[in-house]
Amino acid sequence: MQPAETYKNRILQGDAQEALKALPDASVDLIVTSPPYADQRAATYGGVKADDYVEWFMPIASELKRVLKPEGSFVLNIKERVVNGERHTYVLELIIAMRKQGWLWTEEYVWHKRNCYPGKWPNRFRDAWERCIHFTKQKAFTMYQDAVMVPMGDWKNSRLQNLSETDQRRDNSRVLSGFGKNISNWIGREMAYPSNVLHLATECSNKSHSAAFPVELPSWFIKLFTQPGDLVLDPFMGSGTTAVAAQQLDRCYVGTELNPEYIAVAHERLREREGPNLFTVKEKKRSYKEEKQVLVNDD
Ligand SMILES: C[S@@+](CC[C@H](N)C(=O)[O-])C[C@H]1O[C@@H](n2cnc3c(N)ncnc32)[C@H](O)[C@@H]1O
Repeated sequence: MQPAETYKNRILQGDAQEALKALPDASVDLIVTSPPYADQRAATYGGVKADDYVEWFMPIASELKRVLKPEGSFVLNIKERVVNGERHTYVLELIIAMRKQGWLWTEEYVWHKRNCYPGKWPNRFRDAWERCIHFTKQKAFTMYQDAVMVPMGDWKNSRLQNLSETDQRRDNSRVLSGFGKNISNWIGREMAYPSNVLHLATECSNKSHSAAFPVELPSWFIKLFTQPGDLVLDPFMGSGTTAVAAQQLDRCYVGTELNPEYIAVAHERLREREGPNLFTVKEKKRSYKEEKQVLVNDD
């Protein structure tokens, strides 16, 4: 097995379960990914049957657990589809299987799709959110909360202007959870910590991949869980959105992807940002078409 440096800023072509074996143990700081959704988009990049999803995913999860550092995080963007008129339970089953494999189901973030267009269904409304499930290997994990702080906004001028007596002391939870709040602590501050709901528009400009997520999605988690120079893995790299986000934030990336055409799209997007530095001097001497081939086949 090669040292982690060998794989930094590379996308390995192949099935994630096999390709991930090339990565060393405990070498990755963060995994962010959106796997193929059960049975969906079968026409564009294949699909896994909802009933087989957990069985398909768990050997890959095992490799992800091996390559993730003990203090690292794994963010899984997924949403259960509707089968026979009801939500299938494979995501819930997946969470249980992940816990059995030794992962902690540390948190669940909601990606609210801000630009969702209206629609009419007989038995439900338009799906406007997806899960971003946060798994860790241990309770103590790396998290840089200050990196994702948000402006206090109007709250500063409305709620904080008229503080009640309770607002000015620690108000303990009435359900005796042990939590409490002192609203007056926020007076004079410009920034606050965000909630676990991310309000982001879906990706509309990426015409090369039918299921690309917006670059802001991996960016937010990359800022929250890594520092510059850290290594971010996406085992279902698609058109390279996670790699683009990592590159923009001065992190390193590594990915696996089944489809060489998507890898070519990813390289194109990365090259647009990085310019000629992306490729080694030797590779730069070849034509772009050859370069793409080399990068796809080298692995
Ligand atoms: C939901 S898409 C990811 C899109 C990506 N987040 C982006 O923004 O472009 C899932 C990707 O997983 C790839 N894929 C499917 N099965 C795979 C496997 N067994 N190993 C590696 N990649 C796979 C598909 O080709 C597809 O590009």
